[in-house]
Amino acid sequence: MIAPSRFPPLLKVGVFPDPVEQALRDVFTLVELDELGLAGRPGHDEIAGIVTRSNYRISRELIDQLPGLRIISTNGVGYDGIPLDYARRKGVIVTNTPEVLNEAVAEMAVGLLLALLRHIPRADAFVKEGAWTTMPFPLGTTLAGKKVGIVGLGRIGKEIVKRLLPFRVEVAYFGRSRQDAEWMYFDDVNRLAAHADILILCCPGGPETYGMIDAGVLRSLGPSGFLVNIARGSVVNESDLYRALADRTVAGAALDVFNHEPLDASPLRRLDNVVLAPHVGSATRETRMQMAALAIDNLCRFFDTGSAVTPVP
Ligand code: DGY
Repeated sequence: MIAPSRFPPLLKVGVFPDPVEQALRDVFTLVELDELGLAGRPGHDEIAGIVTRSNYRISRELIDQLPGLRIISTNGVGYDGIPLDYARRKGVIVTNTPEVLNEAVAEMAVGLLLALLRHIPRADAFVKEGAWTTMPFPLGTTLAGKKVGIVGLGRIGKEIVKRLLPFRVEVAYFGRSRQDAEWMYFDDVNRLAAHADILILCCPGGPETYGMIDAGVLRSLGPSGFLVNIARGSVVNESDLYRALADRTVAGAALDVFNHEPLDASPLRRLDNVVLAPHVGSATRETRMQMAALAIDNLCRFFDTGSAVTPVP
């Protein structure tokens, strides 16, 4: 028999990997949205916290339906799916899990970039499907010597740079302000795109970056330019990107994030110059467990003391 939790029940929004869900259930009573108020399950007014992941949306309406809500704890660094100001006005604190995922996301960015430049997913299919015996495999692109433009030199951007430097690339970056960094700074993303061979998006989502990578930026990147997005789908105007890829006015893109997730009937799926991943930047066992541990710490500390470990600033 499961011992009752000493903490109030939490609403779970989103699907979690099994070990993460188990870690949460070891400490909390979790309730799904469609269970709220069912016989023997907590009701709307008993929920004091929401636990979620950064690729799910929390609506204002949901916050309004939970009069006892005091904390939203997201497993992830991004919180663009949470109406932050509204939650604050309602006295609800929001916490995220920064730092612990930097390395996994940076590894994914480098992996996607190499997969894109060297056609690794196509190479795998080529051998498995027996095409190797019938035709030559198309040539790829060398990373060494390329100019890499980092869009958002934050914690994850810096980890990506550390990993790319041994490949002998030249780094430049765009961000809100110049940093104390030795790389060339651009205060205009268009000019960075014109300078770079490869753009890597690792900036936060939200209104400030919404649709920032549009037809103009893609034109500046040009027909030999590559785009990698491990930030948020919202940063890219996806129909402009599709056009540019289909017309080969941009050479290729590797995307882990999309305007709408999971990606469904998108024409991007038909292109041979894209590498697509199902938003798995932080999806390693080690990292997801560290994210879960921090999300749990945030909740426990908040319920015990009224302040959290990593509240969203
Ligand atoms: C985040 O934490 O925002 C990542 O997108 C999760 O994979």
